[in-house]
Amino acid sequence: MIVTIDGPAGSGKSTTARRAAARLSYVYLDTGAMYRAVALGFLRADAPATIASAETVLSSLRVDVQYRDGTMQVFLGDEAVTDRLRSAEVGRIVSDISTLEPIREYMVEQQRRIGRVQADRHGGVVLDGRDTGTVVFPEAPVKIFMVADIDERARRRLQEHEAAGEEITFEEVRAEIEQRDEQDRTRDIAPLRRADDATVLDTTDCTIAEQVELVVDHVKAQDAHGT
Ligand code: DC
Repeated sequence: MIVTIDGPAGSGKSTTARRAAARLSYVYLDTGAMYRAVALGFLRADAPATIASAETVLSSLRVDVQYRDGTMQVFLGDEAVTDRLRSAEVGRIVSDISTLEPIREYMVEQQRRIGRVQADRHGGVVLDGRDTGTVVFPEAPVKIFMVADIDERARRRLQEHEAAGEEITFEEVRAEIEQRDEQDRTRDIAPLRRADDATVLDTTDCTIAEQVELVVDHVKAQDAHGT
């Protein structure tokens, strides 16, 4: 079973996808974390977000995912970088990096490979991102498109930054999210959009537990329907 959850930043995808995967005994694949790892590679190489530097960076950088006790760990080469991916610095450049065609091709290939291997091994995978239901697994039997009001999304992201000890204001977070949404929605390759067969889930007034429940119920209903 492949379950895709796409939507804008802060809509609750990651937390919901992770918990829904745990409830279903599936594996969680955070595709945004993979783009963030590439962005970290660009930051370290001090490379600009251009096609030419994407090719150079990709020739020396391998992004992979491993599961330790069911938890996804992202690797840049041999280095585990999961803890370094949610900084505001990475957040500022990741959307630019993710518009580059060589990067998208590499990521989609990796995500399909990892998704298939893990689905075979564990019975199912829940992926979250921007294009998982439209490009990575357009044939997925369950697709969710998660949305939430921009102020609520900014509040959620601000809490994450504060928990990580980063000093940033609500206005800065909101502006960053707005800009990133616009870029993700209007880029030429694999823009953020709802797949025609995706179910929309508005999480503005939902608790995490409610969101998880809705996704789990949806997957179970589809599973029962499909068997
Ligand atoms: O979900 P996130 O905030 O960690 O994603 C970071 C960025 O990565 C997002 O602004 C766009 C990009 N991304 C993408 O283009 N396609 C995906 N499937 C996932 C993320």
